[in-house]
Amino acid sequence: MIVYYNGSFIDKSEVCISPDDRGFLFGDGTYEVIRVYNQSIFRLADHLNRLRRSLREIRMNDVDMDDLAKILNALVKKNASMTGDAAIYVQITRGIAARNHRFPTTLHPSIYAAIIETVLNPELRKNGVKIILLPDQRWGRCDIKSISLLANVLAAEEAHRQNAYEAVFIRDGLITEGTRTNIALIRDDTVRTHPLDHHILGGITRDVVLELCRKLKIPVSEQPFHQDQLLDADEIFIMGTTTEICPVIQVNDQLIHGGKPGPMTMKIQTVFRKLIDKGRI
Ligand code: PDD
Repeated sequence: MIVYYNGSFIDKSEVCISPDDRGFLFGDGTYEVIRVYNQSIFRLADHLNRLRRSLREIRMNDVDMDDLAKILNALVKKNASMTGDAAIYVQITRGIAARNHRFPTTLHPSIYAAIIETVLNPELRKNGVKIILLPDQRWGRCDIKSISLLANVLAAEEAHRQNAYEAVFIRDGLITEGTRTNIALIRDDTVRTHPLDHHILGGITRDVVLELCRKLKIPVSEQPFHQDQLLDADEIFIMGTTTEICPVIQVNDQLIHGGKPGPMTMKIQTVFRKLIDKGRI
């Protein structure tokens, strides 16, 4: 597989990452996962805007997003055989410097981009998944797409051990988001999801879902909700780049919507898929 690393397109086996890279030493960097459908990059401008914002928030301003867009498009072309339905992983770290917590005096970011194939099994999207709830032990800036993902990794592993697809976090009694997805509930025909603040990542899929709801005249509420309100929901779904829109049919031991995907979730999912198939989203 051809990947991009610091100015070159090379075979993945030839990439050589320094042990002094601050991503490796400190998790000092940011990333994006961007879906590719039929060789075309989904919402690239939105992902690059979020990346620009993450970089600004961690004080790494000077990465050119127009150059990066060209790199990512070239990467997809160079891997045409595997980009029918895949994703791009792109990571930018604060570069290579002898270990010192302070920033290096000159900045040479390390940029890595590759195609990854971790997309959700369509059967799960059709039949729904189980989630578990766990305390949100992450830091206070979950709106930055940081590569430091230890709390997410531990929670995802716990979900796997409990036969669940995703772990969803609770902070001060309120549901925030999953380890790699945003979450919404449906109650009385209204879609409700956590507002954009420092406790969640502003998901691109979340944006698309809210746009679709408005088009479909489905009322939307961006208000935090309590764990009890989640368990009392008519329907629940999770959403993200690799997951797309996926019904939740079980939270811990409790079935949701009788253990079956709910009709509004499936309606939103169907419209989302149709637009993607037509290349219209
Ligand atoms: N995760 N919340 C968190 C914590 C995430 O890591 C993600 C994405 C999302 C959904 O965002 P989007 O719709 O833009 O993908 C929400 C990616 C897919 C990942 O880490 O693999």
